[in-house]
Amino acid sequence: MSTQAARVGVIGLGYVGLPLALAMHRAGHEVVGVDIDEETIERLRDGTTTVSDVDDAEIADALAEGIEFTSEYTALRDVDGVSICVPTPLRKTDTPDLSFVIDAVEQLAPVISDGATVILESTVYPGATEEVVGETLTENGATIGEDVYLAFSPERIDPGNEEYGPTEIPKVLGGVTPACGDRAEALYGPVFDEVIRVDSATEAELVKLLENTFRAVNIGLINELAQVAHELNVDIWNAIDAAETKPFGYMPFYPGPGLGGHCIPIDPFYLSWKASEHDIETRFIDLADTVNREMPDHVVQRVVEQLNDRGVALSTADVLVVGAAYKPNVSDTRESPAIDIIQKLEEWNVNVSYHDPFVPSFEVGEGIYTSVELTDDRLRQADCVILVTNHDTLDIRRIVENTSLVFDTRNATVDLDVDGAEIVRL
Ligand SMILES: NC(=O)c1ccc[n+]([C@@H]2O[C@H](COP(=O)([O-])OP(=O)(O)OC[C@H]3O[C@@H](n4cnc5c(N)ncnc54)[C@H](O)[C@@H]3O)[C@@H](O)[C@H]2O)c1
Repeated sequence: MSTQAARVGVIGLGYVGLPLALAMHRAGHEVVGVDIDEETIERLRDGTTTVSDVDDAEIADALAEGIEFTSEYTALRDVDGVSICVPTPLRKTDTPDLSFVIDAVEQLAPVISDGATVILESTVYPGATEEVVGETLTENGATIGEDVYLAFSPERIDPGNEEYGPTEIPKVLGGVTPACGDRAEALYGPVFDEVIRVDSATEAELVKLLENTFRAVNIGLINELAQVAHELNVDIWNAIDAAETKPFGYMPFYPGPGLGGHCIPIDPFYLSWKASEHDIETRFIDLADTVNREMPDHVVQRVVEQLNDRGVALSTADVLVVGAAYKPNVSDTRESPAIDIIQKLEEWNVNVSYHDPFVPSFEVGEGIYTSVELTDDRLRQADCVILVTNHDTLDIRRIVENTSLVFDTRNATVDLDVDGAEIVRL
């Protein structure tokens, strides 16, 4: 199979598309990145990053070496392959919203050349690549596997993870036909350390949903157990550490303030929606979702109990939320539990502010919150600090030393031996 350098396009230059475009560039492909957001394109052309996992220097180097960023689909006219990395959110009804994918393919179909390979990276329900993308690509009479090649390759990046960079994570790939898989593999082979071929695009779609549903369900289980353990006066974190010593048949998951991000809270609903089309009720998915969504409420209830125990009136209480991003070392606040926690505290009339070194400001309901500086005085002023996101750059020791009460949802204080705040763990 030929794996030589090619001209490739990436549609959607966000958390997934930008690192992918740069990885393809580094692998020797000639890359053109397309995004409908003019501001994103302007920033990238100026050599400024738009996502936390990519730094300015990488973009500047790639620009100097010829990578292109544009909002014009016509730039994809002569590409050999194109990867689609646009959002796949849920509608208000918790059903799949493929409008971004459809829009991208409708703009792409009239411009791509015969023989090009289209690889969908966005998470979708099983069958969507063939049914939704395939349908638009064949409207002009083209045949998949002959005139145009179509594959699905789920993005498995973990933003903020320094151990596994985007190209070190094995790349699962399934073609709509074997020839489609071969073409896609030829493009991705030079980019990723390992390409894992599966039998079809649908199988590859299921792989992604299996991985994320597995996480959502197991996090739901441990979140439920955390609530039980609290009532039993057992430290769930100690129990997890001990359980983890079993050398087989167990894998640790950790409780937290609730699910966040664009994947774990959303992707399982792509699977349950497809299952419902076949009259199958996905009870594990629904139950895990219920438990996980309860967690911000559980956190707030526990904080309110602590404040009441200390005789602090909620109407005069000052609570500082530390961490607005949904996970450590990223700036992404999509679906972050911090949003729910702040809203719920506001419902109790608590004076709430937040600090996040990665998130200068973010929307909570109708309002915009701005990150406060984490000075010793600000910490001393707080009646409670809630640790929601454990960024590596946070000085947890200083927080504990200067606060009267820390509610730790992430076990961030576990190794600390300091005089200071009373620490209450989830
Ligand atoms: N963020 C993650 O960690 C992650 C991990 C694995 C999979 N995914 C999946 O990857 C997909 C993309 O997620 P993301 O986090 O990169 O989203 P994102 O919002 O960060 O980026 C999407 C980009 O697509 C652009 N866009 C939207 N419609 C477009 C169109 N028609 N044409 C061109 N550009 C368009 C947007 O302007 C934006 O820049 C989603 O399906 C997501 O579920 C995300």
